[in-house]
Amino acid sequence: MPTLNDIRSTFLNYFAKQGHEVVASSPLVPRNDPTLMFVNSGMVQFKNLFTGVETRDYQRATTAQKCVRAGGKHNDLDNVGYTARHHTFFEMLGNFSFGDYFKHDAIPFAWELITKEFGIDKNRLLTTVYHTDDEAFEIWKQVGVPEDRIIRIATSDNFWQMGPTGPCGPCTEIFYDHGDHIWGGPPGSAEEDGDRFIEIWNIVFMQNEQFEDGSMVELDMQSIDTGMGLERIGALLQGSHDNYDTDLFKTLIEASAEATGVDPYGDQNVHHRVIADHLRSTSFLIADGVMPSNDGRGYVLRRIMRRAMRHAHLLGAKDPVMHQLVPTLVQLMGAQYTELGQAQPLIEETLLLEETRFKQTLDRGLKLLDDEVAGLPEGAALPGDAAFKLYDTYGFPLDLTQDALREKGRTVDTDGFDAAMAEQKAKARAAWAGSGEAADQAVWFDVLDSAGATDFLGYDTEKAEGQIAALVVDGALVDAIEKGGSGWVIVNQTPFYGEAGGQVGDTGEIRRLEERDDMARVEDTKKFADGKVYAHKVTVDHGTFSKGDAVELEVDHARRTAIRANHSATHLLHEALRETLGDHVAQRGSLNAADRLRFDFSHSKALSREEIQKVERDVNDFIRQNSTVETRIMTPDDARELGAQALFGEKYGDEVRVVSMGKAPTGKGQDGETWSIELCGGTHVRQTGDIGTFVVLGDSASSAGVRRIEALTGDDALRHLSQQDQRLGQIASELKAQPDDVVTRVKALMSERKALQNEVDQLRRDLAMASQQRSADSVGSAFDFEHEGLKVEIKFFKNLPSKQLREVVDRLKREHAADAFIVVGSEGKKTGIAAGVKDEFTNKVSAVDLVKPIVLAWGGKGGGGRPDLAQGGAAIDLSDSNGAEIERFVINAVSGG
Ligand code: ALA
Repeated sequence: MPTLNDIRSTFLNYFAKQGHEVVASSPLVPRNDPTLMFVNSGMVQFKNLFTGVETRDYQRATTAQKCVRAGGKHNDLDNVGYTARHHTFFEMLGNFSFGDYFKHDAIPFAWELITKEFGIDKNRLLTTVYHTDDEAFEIWKQVGVPEDRIIRIATSDNFWQMGPTGPCGPCTEIFYDHGDHIWGGPPGSAEEDGDRFIEIWNIVFMQNEQFEDGSMVELDMQSIDTGMGLERIGALLQGSHDNYDTDLFKTLIEASAEATGVDPYGDQNVHHRVIADHLRSTSFLIADGVMPSNDGRGYVLRRIMRRAMRHAHLLGAKDPVMHQLVPTLVQLMGAQYTELGQAQPLIEETLLLEETRFKQTLDRGLKLLDDEVAGLPEGAALPGDAAFKLYDTYGFPLDLTQDALREKGRTVDTDGFDAAMAEQKAKARAAWAGSGEAADQAVWFDVLDSAGATDFLGYDTEKAEGQIAALVVDGALVDAIEKGGSGWVIVNQTPFYGEAGGQVGDTGEIRRLEERDDMARVEDTKKFADGKVYAHKVTVDHGTFSKGDAVELEVDHARRTAIRANHSATHLLHEALRETLGDHVAQRGSLNAADRLRFDFSHSKALSREEIQKVERDVNDFIRQNSTVETRIMTPDDARELGAQALFGEKYGDEVRVVSMGKAPTGKGQDGETWSIELCGGTHVRQTGDIGTFVVLGDSASSAGVRRIEALTGDDALRHLSQQDQRLGQIASELKAQPDDVVTRVKALMSERKALQNEVDQLRRDLAMASQQRSADSVGSAFDFEHEGLKVEIKFFKNLPSKQLREVVDRLKREHAADAFIVVGSEGKKTGIAAGVKDEFTNKVSAVDLVKPIVLAWGGKGGGGRPDLAQGGAAIDLSDSNGAEIERFVINAVSGG
């Protein structure tokens, strides 16, 4: 008996042999549809190929597509578990032609596959065609289906539309007759809802496009879109008409039985079925980036999870069950869908967390429900306010309450529930209005009220479609923004990151799907209304953007990539600083922009060159480690227990996002442990290697006790390094040296310069002395006068700084014949005087006695020193004097004249 995995392979291989490209399933969160909540059919990822907006290098494709039908238009949630064929998650097998083959090939392909490859008995097959489609009717006849088993259907059952707009067309369906032991009639008959005739394959002849205004046009090309539920065909080929009897579901149901200790096929089977189905949808949704939350897609996920948990509870499970079943699922489906294995720890952890928390209120909620129901008259609906209380206080999604009541044959007053919900919103608003927040914030709460919270898709994609939910100009709601105008555009979902946590808002473009030349430039993105509304600050370059428009949003990829690298590098930097400087280092602020990063942290002194180098080296080590960056959702308490770095003084909700990266090598932190764990809502690289490289620009004081590091990553870091290198090259070339020799050369140059400077100083002195020599010579004596029996020589220099006097004296003592010397040097309005006595005469006269009287006579200060050398100075200007005058003055002063 073929397993579901075998059947999937047979299908894909068959179409591969027919020249089809085997294309991987797209993620469950649609990137290319403005309003679709989850991918719900195989054609979604090819939507734009049918309309001709997009082309690829293949015209035939085949896929096994993950689909979720829970929430939105196609919602099967309520029936799951109670029927043989409803699922929240299923796989759709399909083959597609984009303007290549059409009906004449599609029908024979299908017939050959199911009758030959799958070996299904021809006599049990029936087909339907759209009532006007004679062509399809004829082709079925040609392949061998008797006329009485080709049924014309006039209803929308045989005209397939993905939604209110988009590509569509007539279709033909193949039915299998399970035999007259099961109740039911052929399609189109009064008993068609029975289980006897089961649709197994839908083949759509894509030839029209439906527009919002109700018009439908013929498409230029004719295409094929088909869909066959793997679980259904699997049941059939495994001899059952119940999808839950297939190998895959049996294994899951048995795992659920094992975990709960409850017989898999007894009267509790419905609960096992719900658990098996919901396990698949929740696991695949988490693997595709959806996290449980209270809005949008995250709330659908939460509803499915809680629903499954109630059924586990009904099985009497005391401990969390769902997470225990994940390994079985990964074993069954992980080979085809590798994302499942990759996300296994995240899936298990998310399920365990949700189940543990929900358990705390589930019992009390169910008790309240029982009490409420006990007081109701027979068959009466549960009042809306009771259902709302269960929702608000006990976390019971409405459909969980409905599911619980279904077993008791009761319903919920949903109008009453909606009214209670509206009343609570009004109260919250009133409370907010009284809180004194700026009035210009009011408009964002209006947007939140009317449009709901924005679904942020930007963790997983940079491009998505959405529908304009509101436009705001100058703090007021408007219907449109025209060319040249600026304002805020709010879309139901967006890949644009709204500025938060130091990470700047994304920029990029918004284009109208109807008219792709119509473009609004997104200059910034911010979050308002408690972070629930993402608003794009735009200037419209072309066309007009109006409320309700379907648009494509595309983030500036290069800029976002650079921001991501900077943000992840900041986390590594934070940890490297703690490692290098100590645990007192705590984040005080940060900026993660496209062109640089800035990190402020508590530390009281400047970093040394070595510290900076170490930090830089550590960060680069972790970049080269190229480990995967992991993201998880948990309670703040669990995050703290894990050791996550949180921002001091920051307010966190009851769920936080935890980003971890790097494995600590030996000697750093705890061997093999995660290196950096931080609470963070930002966008990050997938692998640390994506950061490229990291360079610190500098460290400065930011405020008292807070240092600031600025740094670059990726291209910018490389550009910076290459600029530095260029400068080095220039220096080397100026030095006519190799870059490697620059330091030695510069050192040599510096000492050479110092030597030259000394030489210049010496030469200056010599020059000064030489010129004075000439004027002294004109006095005409070898020495100038005798004092206390010693021969004293006097010299006067113009422009000789005082600090050089001493050297002149020393030199004269060495080179001249006199016994003592007096040197006067003037420089501007200052005059210095020094006297020297050769050592052998210091017992006769002290140099101090030669200097002092002159300094006093000039009204100066100093005149002290040793017997062999004394010095002094005065603030007088001798620039007009000549040698002879000075000589006379000195002689007079010294000889007491
Ligand atoms: N897109 C078609 C369906 O979902 C094949 O049934």
